[in-house]
Amino acid sequence: MGRLRPSPRNPGQTMKDKTTIASTVIEPTAFGAVYHQRFAVNYDYPVHFTHDLFARDNPVFVEALSRKEPNKRHRFLAFIDADVAASWPGLAHDICGYAEHHGERLQLLAHPETIVGGEQVKHDPELVTRLQRRLLDLGVDRHAYVVAIGGGAFLDMCGFVAATVHRGVRHIRVPTTVLGQNDSGVGVKNGINAFGVKNFVGSFAPPFAVLNDASFLRTLHPRDRIAGIAEAVKVSLIRDRVFFEWLESQVDALHACAPDATARMIRRCAELHMRQIAHGGDPFETGSARPLDYGHWSAHKLEALTGHELRHGEAVAIGIALDSRYSVQIGMLAPGQEERIFAVLKRLGFYLWHPALERRDAEGRWVVLEGLREFREHLGGELTITLLREIGRGEEVHVMDEAEILRAIAWLRHRESAQ
Ligand SMILES: NC(=O)c1ccc[n+]([C@@H]2O[C@H](COP(=O)([O-])OP(=O)(O)OC[C@H]3O[C@@H](n4cnc5c(N)ncnc54)[C@H](O)[C@@H]3O)[C@@H](O)[C@H]2O)c1
Ligand SMILES: [Zn+2]
Repeated sequence: MGRLRPSPRNPGQTMKDKTTIASTVIEPTAFGAVYHQRFAVNYDYPVHFTHDLFARDNPVFVEALSRKEPNKRHRFLAFIDADVAASWPGLAHDICGYAEHHGERLQLLAHPETIVGGEQVKHDPELVTRLQRRLLDLGVDRHAYVVAIGGGAFLDMCGFVAATVHRGVRHIRVPTTVLGQNDSGVGVKNGINAFGVKNFVGSFAPPFAVLNDASFLRTLHPRDRIAGIAEAVKVSLIRDRVFFEWLESQVDALHACAPDATARMIRRCAELHMRQIAHGGDPFETGSARPLDYGHWSAHKLEALTGHELRHGEAVAIGIALDSRYSVQIGMLAPGQEERIFAVLKRLGFYLWHPALERRDAEGRWVVLEGLREFREHLGGELTITLLREIGRGEEVHVMDEAEILRAIAWLRHRESAQ
């Protein structure tokens, strides 16, 4: 676009680009002028569901990297979650073999690096700096790729590294957990924890591609496999009654981690998350709502309060049970529905209570309630919490009654001890 000057004949002139999406509207004001700058950026990224990603005849990886420039040799670097590397000892070798086999289109910049995984990677700012330095040393530029292979926590940390180097290098996510494949990996956020606050530092940075390989789930600890199903229960409750009923009918298969039921659960859950991001009108959460974070205000607090002894999904399951009971107590959800939700979560294998729910500070205040404030502060603006109107339909509220929350906590304790 050339230089912009307000036209003397038409001070409110609009200069549009060829697509008419962008405009710079110049308007004189009493103290000068204002240039209203407007443009839109389109994002698109494929989310693949595949298996044996690094088998040489599987084209998914090479095609994902070359989809925008098919005739180029693409430089990439891979970071592997240590538990994944330990469970798949041949993985780094397979990646090297794959790169060699597709050598006309791929160039591996260094031997894949194994880095510790799990929530601890989100508490380690020095690790972030070390990896940023590594990208510098290897000459990773804005056309090279950082491939991260691991759980949701590992991808959050690697995604943050990729998003901050050169203000954003291309990032390929290979989620290896249920939660990574059905929720966190397919979305647009990354982040690390800081100052005792979950995801305090991070960015919105859509990935270049997401490659969900079902094979990895075979080695995932059952505790982590189950934990990821909490996100499917969550999204079904607020968006899709039929999906909730399907989960209800498949609860034993899901508990047993049956591959077919697990694959179907992951696909539907990922679809619902992707639909929200693409069609919800606020992919980068600039408003006051976090529409898919049902049950999360207490979950994030519980994770921190338990020193991350509770997995994210385990804390979410407790948060779902709490907010479902609360929805009944305030007359929003029909009585009895919370029992149905409680039953599904129990049969999946969740323990729906933690003593941290009743922790008090030195002044006798209930610490979990700070989660509400932190939830609001994360976004700013008005407190917005999704509750349940009915199974399959969430509804936002802007106030939560603390006495009712405490009653719901007491109900949970009683309900869990009666099991
Ligand atoms: N960015 C987002 O939009 C978003 C959304 C939801 C959750 N999250 C984040 O995701 C994280 C939770 O992710 P998670 O549930 O995947 O847990 P996780 O990343 O902590 O992984 C759990 C454990 O499984 C190991 N592991 C991973 N894949 C494995 C495999 N295939 N075989 C054997 N072991 C394996 C990991 O090393 C780790 O020890 C939390 O930090 C949460 O805040 C992010
Ligand atoms: Zn979550």
